[in-house]
Amino acid sequence: MEKYAAWAASYQEDQVTIAYDTMWEGTTKIAHRIAEEIHRQSPDTVVKVFNIAKADKNEIMTEVFKSRAIAVGSPTVSNSYLSSVAGWLEFLKQLKFKNKKAAAFGCYGWSGESVKLLQAKLAEAGFEVIEENVRSMWNPKESDFEGIPALVKSLIG
Ligand SMILES: Cc1cc2nc3c(=O)[nH]c(=O)nc-3n(C[C@H](O)[C@H](O)[C@H](O)COP(=O)(O)O)c2cc1C
Repeated sequence: MEKYAAWAASYQEDQVTIAYDTMWEGTTKIAHRIAEEIHRQSPDTVVKVFNIAKADKNEIMTEVFKSRAIAVGSPTVSNSYLSSVAGWLEFLKQLKFKNKKAAAFGCYGWSGESVKLLQAKLAEAGFEVIEENVRSMWNPKESDFEGIPALVKSLIG
């Protein structure tokens, strides 16, 4: 943890880390479409995708540390984001990363608060949060991916 704090200054490589959780894989699809679009727009950028509930939390943070930008995704659950993502965001905030951009994405059914709340939490954690986001009502259709090129342009630009 002390090392994390020491490293947190401004270190970064040409990498983007995408971290998300999901119930029914809709948010997973958005995560992978964002990854594909990063590769299309910037073939040299390393992209790593993690399911927060399945991957080792320290490993994801090591990749965030190396990244110049991150994208965080969660479906809306009970007017918020998943508790797994909430815990991870708390850890993220404690590490006080600097000079990194962030974007949010996620599926929802009716009220869809997760993306706005993710953006607010990422800003609180010290990230430069971009406006562009992806919200999909229920499982994503092709048209739900339309905003991804603009999101990626802003995230890695
Ligand atoms: C327990 C539970 C609570 C939910 N609460 C909300 C909610 O408060 N607002 C909303 O818009 N959708 C809510 N949803 C709907 C999910 O966000 C929606 O099914 C979404 O497509 C799931 O995305 P996923 O495929 O990434 O898991 C809820 C779903 C479940 C199972």
